[in-house]
Amino acid sequence: MTSPNTAKQIANVMNETRVFPPSAEFSSRAAIGSTDAYQALYDESIADPEKFWDGQAKSHLHWFEPYTQCLEWSEPFAKWFVGGKTNVSYNCLDAHVRAGRGDRVAFFWEGEPGDKRTITYAQLLEDVSRFAAALDRLGIRKGDRVSIYMPMVPELPVAMLACARIGAIHSVIFGGFSAEAIADRNNDAQAKLIITSDGGWRRGKVLHLKQTVDEALAKSPSVQHCVVLQRVNNNSPMTDGRDVWWHDLVSKESSNFPAVPLDSEDSLFILYTSGSTGKPKGIRHTMGGYNLYAKRTFQWVFDYRDEDIFWCTADCGWITGHSYIVYGPLSAGATQVLYEGAPNWPEEDRFWDIIERYKVSILYTAPTAIRAFIKWGDHHVDKHDLSSLRLLGSVGEGINPEAWMWYYEKIGGGRCPIVDTWWQTETGGIMMSPLPGAIACKPGSCTRPMPGIVPRILHSDLTDVGTNEGGMLCIEKPWPGMLRGIWGDDQRYQEAYWSKVPHMYLTGDNSRRDEDGYYWIMGRIDDVINVSGHRLSTIEIESALVSHPSVAEAAAVGRPDEIKGQGIAVFVTLKNHEPSDAMRDELKKHVRKEIGALAVPDEVRFTTALPKTRSGKIMRRLLRDIAAGKESAQDTSTLEDFSVLAKLRSDEES
Ligand code: WT7
Repeated sequence: MTSPNTAKQIANVMNETRVFPPSAEFSSRAAIGSTDAYQALYDESIADPEKFWDGQAKSHLHWFEPYTQCLEWSEPFAKWFVGGKTNVSYNCLDAHVRAGRGDRVAFFWEGEPGDKRTITYAQLLEDVSRFAAALDRLGIRKGDRVSIYMPMVPELPVAMLACARIGAIHSVIFGGFSAEAIADRNNDAQAKLIITSDGGWRRGKVLHLKQTVDEALAKSPSVQHCVVLQRVNNNSPMTDGRDVWWHDLVSKESSNFPAVPLDSEDSLFILYTSGSTGKPKGIRHTMGGYNLYAKRTFQWVFDYRDEDIFWCTADCGWITGHSYIVYGPLSAGATQVLYEGAPNWPEEDRFWDIIERYKVSILYTAPTAIRAFIKWGDHHVDKHDLSSLRLLGSVGEGINPEAWMWYYEKIGGGRCPIVDTWWQTETGGIMMSPLPGAIACKPGSCTRPMPGIVPRILHSDLTDVGTNEGGMLCIEKPWPGMLRGIWGDDQRYQEAYWSKVPHMYLTGDNSRRDEDGYYWIMGRIDDVINVSGHRLSTIEIESALVSHPSVAEAAAVGRPDEIKGQGIAVFVTLKNHEPSDAMRDELKKHVRKEIGALAVPDEVRFTTALPKTRSGKIMRRLLRDIAAGKESAQDTSTLEDFSVLAKLRSDEES
């Protein structure tokens, strides 16, 4: 292992052979400070996982009533801490206040326009209790589903925790989704209530969230009430009998609403994510196992100490926000920064400004953001003192070595380890990542598994791959944070994750393991593309396009994108319209309306036919090459109509 500090060595990093060990100082202060300590913990955890997790659960969660069995595994259905009673909001709030830590800051919140609030654990507990009481008064009961569609204001975690307090199941819908997408999710979950706000701030403009919710509610018959937080004062119209202002609701409630003891396997939340079919999957997580896994992985990976200020820049609408803004850090009693808006408002230095002002010591962000910062230029970084940082994290997609190096040198000043965390909505928490004081980093590798996690890489014939051979990444043993199913669809759960490879959880990612036992993620196996760290299914985008009256057929593929990782290219055949720029814009608008801004294609290409196999399957691999501007070297022997390919290439600028 060598130290990284010369240009020559950086060049070597591009070949992904360089290793960046933590400094002796970092390791000496870390909870897990050596490779041996990691290995000992890992070995113990997999020698007897139930014993290991039993010990973890007993010392890290509050149990109103003890569980009688650590794990009940009836493949593929897991129950952790069976019979135990706990409450996630108690573990996140009451536990700290009772331990005399109520004055600790939970959130330093900053709105995009610059408004600020500091919220202690004691205040957060009061806010959550009041809102839990309000939910109860609205008739929300344990097991009821509650949709949440809000900007990144403190009331978003408050709403989530209030649901958790009474056992209502929240379904947070990212604020960038369209009315159609909200209605789909409301209907799939049969949500009884939706919580929103009149609007939120993004790049200096107001997003009128309530207006979008009104449209969605016209198609969401199960929703009886809509709670509206006043954030932007845009005079949102309120529907009598259905809509109620947040402030009116809580003004009647007391702040004393005790946490209800709930079953460890009661559902905590549903979070919708894309799979390889058109219909989003409602990934279901439960109380005890998820809470424990989010808390412990937060502590292991971020090596959190009392004096740290943690900032995860994700939105609570994604799993990263659930696990590493709300449930993990709050269970661990962490102090965090929470920011509402865009990274380039009012200037491209907003993140660095925030880090400097709040003395953020741990930053957790996404490769797509890092690539944007690189493009915006170093001068934005140079204006600020980032010496408070001691640890950096990356999430959502693989980080390319150039971006890794820039993050390491420019943001981390060459002194901060980078935890490249690989995980999924389904896994509940981080599955692989360096433990920063123990495992040396290699740019682009998520390195080693968490305690209790046993990865396995297989060829498609189910034999194990050799060193540095790519294959399907699977997980061998159940773990507490794993999804418990897909909402309302056990069969799809079984098929998507437990059928192709017997007796293992199929992640849907390809991976290889190198000679040091480090894991490298090599992209998806299925028809899912990763745009800015968010999963989108190609079929979802295609269904949206085909729902337009002029479209006969459509194929969506990912193409390389400098900032977003992958962009979206779509190939469209029209019914009886001539291709035009106006039609191109109309189709983009249509996808925005059907799914949301994040799914809008970067490129729309019109074609008279799509390349297909003899059995009629669209040959996406060919389209991917065309979208990337590559000559296809792929086998075209099953292509139905060779002329289609030539046509697509010559149509390039049509
Ligand atoms: C998919 C999961 C992880 C929470 C946010 C996204 C890709 C995620 C990494 C990484 C390479 C990564 C995978 C995974 N992915 N992190 N560190 N290196 N790829 O959650 O929307 O459920 O997406 O994101 O393909 O399967 P998600």
